[in-house]
Amino acid sequence: MFKKLAIGAAFALALTPAATLAAGGGEQHVEDFAFSFEGPFGTWDQNQLQRGLQIYTEVCAACHGLKYVPLRDLKALGYSEEEVIAYAAGTFEVFDPELDDFRPAIPTDHFPANDGVGAPDLSLMAKARAGFHGPYGLGINQLVRGIGGAEYIASLLNGYTGKEKEEAGTTLYENTAFPGGWISMAPPLSDEQVEFADGHENTVESMSQDVAAFLMWTAEPKMMDRKKAGFVGVLFLTILSVLLYLVNKRLWAPVKGKKSA
Ligand code: HEC
Repeated sequence: MFKKLAIGAAFALALTPAATLAAGGGEQHVEDFAFSFEGPFGTWDQNQLQRGLQIYTEVCAACHGLKYVPLRDLKALGYSEEEVIAYAAGTFEVFDPELDDFRPAIPTDHFPANDGVGAPDLSLMAKARAGFHGPYGLGINQLVRGIGGAEYIASLLNGYTGKEKEEAGTTLYENTAFPGGWISMAPPLSDEQVEFADGHENTVESMSQDVAAFLMWTAEPKMMDRKKAGFVGVLFLTILSVLLYLVNKRLWAPVKGKKSA
């Protein structure tokens, strides 16, 4: 029985690479950037998230919405109530069905959706994409390096080779991170495109990591709470295991003691 199972498992493993290779297109390159929020004790870099918000607002919002993210959540990035109110009112107009007209956004609104050019909503993009798949599509890399959603986004923004082609009336841009290698999004970032108040570096490479970190936050704003809960859980189970071991020893002591006597 066990032998049969083992042979079956070995057979399945042997077949997987061939199947995955046949299904997956060209090789995709995703760089393993070191984000501050990685690992069991990683935390958000608040300045980076603020830069990411600025990049999203000035660049990506022209085509992409963030419709699942409430504007009031921006307080978590270190902004005061007044700053959030000013940002909402000064940046977005939303349609109010009660007024039957557009009005400046308020913190209880969400970031607007944007279906203008068929660009996908970015609210959950960092959780919807995986950067690391291998080896052979088994996903083992993800145990070590994480799922890699933010790495994928940063690599995508960094991955333009400069080549373009036209297909059925659409211009496609060669990109080393995009599955298939050709994306219809023109390179959105260029060096020194966004000026930061603190004069932080604004190369494509550094900005793409900033906006990727911001999109990780929009996709999983409670990441730090999740890590904390996990840590408390593991600590609790460790203490429980020690107690159970001691109780077990105590309960069996009369029986086991007899044997050695
Ligand atoms: C001029 C419009 C435009 C701008 C500006 C723009 N995008 Fe896009 N984006 C698109 C379009 C269109 C697609 C769909 C591309 C496709 O599927 O071929 C897309 C797709 C994406 C995807 C999804 C790729 C995938 O795996 O499906 C991500 C992530 C993304 N954009 C991030 C960004 C970020 C971050 C910015 C700002 C730095 C940005 N985009 C700015 C038009 C834009």
